[in-house]
Amino acid sequence: MSGILIENIKQLVQVRRGHQEGASSACSGKDLNTLPCINNAWLYIKEGIIDDFGLMETCPYKEDIPLGTRVIDARGKCVFPSFCDCHTHIVYAGSREKEFMDKIRGLSYREIAARGGGILNSARLLHQTSEEELYRQSLVRAREMIGFGTGAIEIKSGYGLTVEDELKMLRVIRRIGEETPLEVKATFLGAHAVPEAYKGRQEAYVDLIVEEMIPKVAEEGLAQYADVFCETGFFTVKDTERIFTAALKHGLRPKVHANQMDYSGGVQTGVNYGAITVDHLEHTGSEEWDVLAASDTMPVLLPGSTFFLEMEYAQAREMIKRGLPVTLATNYNPGSCPAGNMQFMMTLACLKMKMTPEEAINAATLNGAHAMDLSSRFGSITVGKTANVFITVPMPSYEYFAYAFTSPLIETTIINGKIITL
Ligand code: NIG
Repeated sequence: MSGILIENIKQLVQVRRGHQEGASSACSGKDLNTLPCINNAWLYIKEGIIDDFGLMETCPYKEDIPLGTRVIDARGKCVFPSFCDCHTHIVYAGSREKEFMDKIRGLSYREIAARGGGILNSARLLHQTSEEELYRQSLVRAREMIGFGTGAIEIKSGYGLTVEDELKMLRVIRRIGEETPLEVKATFLGAHAVPEAYKGRQEAYVDLIVEEMIPKVAEEGLAQYADVFCETGFFTVKDTERIFTAALKHGLRPKVHANQMDYSGGVQTGVNYGAITVDHLEHTGSEEWDVLAASDTMPVLLPGSTFFLEMEYAQAREMIKRGLPVTLATNYNPGSCPAGNMQFMMTLACLKMKMTPEEAINAATLNGAHAMDLSSRFGSITVGKTANVFITVPMPSYEYFAYAFTSPLIETTIINGKIITL
């Protein structure tokens, strides 16, 4: 038998004993502020799974360590469950730092996009890049995220915008799931922007998505979800409804980029179509929050892009007050958030959206997992869940993680019960 015993853990974070302690459900409203922890703990990992844990004084392995067990002394250190990042766009070609310069000179995200920059710029680059090279570039980002403590991610297509290139992206996403230890969920986002070839013919592009892209994606089993950028200047509520109708028909559950730049109606449309999440939500108020409160759809906040685009932050406190299961993700992408570090997202959540560290950790672990239909296996320290955890450097408490926001605080990463060397 081979296992890993982590002993003398200063704080074992996000410990949930089972269903009754919310291990496989989302954490909502005031419950977000409860983060169950054990001080001075041990954790035993066996065959890739969390086998047991508890207080050091009750550790059955103190004297009698099972043969072949690797023992890690975590004195002074915290152990967290790996982050579950439910909104990323890490499969892309090249980068867009030239647009960063335009931004510094005063152009907005929408103005850059209207000049043929933005998503269309990434689509051009992706078209010129071979599938192998696209995989190589994306793998660098996936590995970077593992180093930041992430163990499960959702990745979207949406820089292809042709049948061929969307499928190319989705195959790369599948390969990341096969060839890295990350748990990967794939989202088809053909409706990310109207491609140049369809300029002025948006409806015809939506026809292509509905009639060709979605059936092909579903037939090849390349995605679990279908997303739409429902936003003024991108896709309308009517487009979104057409796309979600086709997605549901083909077994893809909706998700939506909603209310990022405007009150787009995206939240209501997402909820009407049973979306698993509605993401961004910088422009929301009582109307949207009430609709969400009466649904099972989760609100996903992406403070990294709000920071990078210098916008007003989503009102997390109001959403929490209304009992919503607020979730955090990075939105790692080349345009609005070239960063995949959940530690920084948690810092932004705390400072800019006034979430507590406990709320931010719940939002980035358990709720992130639930937002990808993964909470039965990921997102907390629970017996029987996949052993995706990280051990920090010595630090005073879990609050330090969001506080010391540029310090590399992760010392050891364990995914599927294996220590990862990057
Ligand atoms: O979530 N808003 C749409 N999609 C991304 C940005 C993509 C890009 O600019 O490349 C976002 O912010």
